[in-house]
Amino acid sequence: MVVEPRVKDFICTTAHPVGCAQNVKNQIEYVKSKGAVKSDNAPKKVLVIGASTGYGLASRIAVAFGYGADTLGVMFEKESNGRRTATAGFYNNRAFEEEAHKAGLYAKSINGDAFSVEIKEQVIETIKADMGKIDMIVYSLAAPRRTTPDGTKYTSVLKTVGEEYTNKTLVLKDNTITDAHITAANDDEINATIKVMGGEDWIDWMQALSDAGVLADNVITVAYSYIGPKITFPIYAEGSIGQAKKDLYKSADIINEKFPNIKAKIAINKALVTQSSAAIPIVPLYITLLYKVMKEKGLHEGCIEQMQRLFMDKILDDTQVDDNGFIRMDDWEMRDDVQEVVAEHWDTVNNDNVKDIADIDGYWEDFYNMFGFKIDGVDYSADVDIM
Ligand code: NAI
Repeated sequence: MVVEPRVKDFICTTAHPVGCAQNVKNQIEYVKSKGAVKSDNAPKKVLVIGASTGYGLASRIAVAFGYGADTLGVMFEKESNGRRTATAGFYNNRAFEEEAHKAGLYAKSINGDAFSVEIKEQVIETIKADMGKIDMIVYSLAAPRRTTPDGTKYTSVLKTVGEEYTNKTLVLKDNTITDAHITAANDDEINATIKVMGGEDWIDWMQALSDAGVLADNVITVAYSYIGPKITFPIYAEGSIGQAKKDLYKSADIINEKFPNIKAKIAINKALVTQSSAAIPIVPLYITLLYKVMKEKGLHEGCIEQMQRLFMDKILDDTQVDDNGFIRMDDWEMRDDVQEVVAEHWDTVNNDNVKDIADIDGYWEDFYNMFGFKIDGVDYSADVDIM
């Protein structure tokens, strides 16, 4: 079948198997071009939770091809039923495994709900059977909902806390600027968002892995967060998702206290187009303004550049943290000379100048690329097997 993009709001409901595979290969080539890690302490057996798209996929590629690590991935993706394509993450994951195997690396993946007890057990069984013990766990879940072990279902919201908020946003379907009104989350919604995107499940994972005796003597675990500039505070850092991220930070402290053999770290990553960030109001406009400035200054990075730099240059060095102990992968995004221009453009952006001061094309390029479209070297007129 010839697969074409079908974009609906902020999601593409089709994915191109060959394009996704090429995207993964390009990311692998990037990591290889930067060279392997020089440290003898580099992890060799890594579990990546949320391994199929965005930052988690890039993390897995960085540790496999930068450390030479064996990897076990956990993801929540749909296979093709023969008529509809699979999700991009499914094709990404398959391509990753193929490339890892070709390079002589162990790579297996488990497709299911990472929040569930069953999937944790399946992961532990697989580690016992194939890997022995693991020495790194990347926790990169971005999920809209979670069922806790007692069967309660929680749905996260992207709302403010306290006051309602109105600001500019980019309407993705026609690239126009309009106002977004964001309502304030009530207490139940804030709690639910913390349940889904906070750190409780991260701690559960560490407990389960520790109890099962599958952790090495020195283990690093890392989870990701975003802080960003004042413009995005009401919807991100100070919003409902920000409350969940504060819970994630506390969870890192809890893990560090409770498990002497685990070092829990938080990396604050750059704002990038991923399936999750596209769903947040206001953020896509900020991202287009940011991309424009960072590209002009030669500072732009995508997921793979960020994760290559995190795993090769920063995570193994305990001194590379800020006063809160966070690894700042948003260091270039938050530079004064970048943020000053972005803030100025935020004030002036309108429908007449948006194409000049915002990198709309770059946004859409990243968006299509995530689903395997508009990737150089792929023949999109060719029939492809979507299974
Ligand atoms: P993403 O949507 O690209 O990736 C999410 C991953 O989680 C996928 O592999 C998906 O299959 C998996 N997943 C979702 N629900 C699952 C479940 N129930 N069970 C198993 N796997 C599941 O998201 P992205 O953007 O890479 O986010 C990853 C982390 O990075 C999140 O914590 C996010 O807050 C953080 N982050 C993202 C930034 C951005 O701009 N995109 C910036 C800074 C941090």
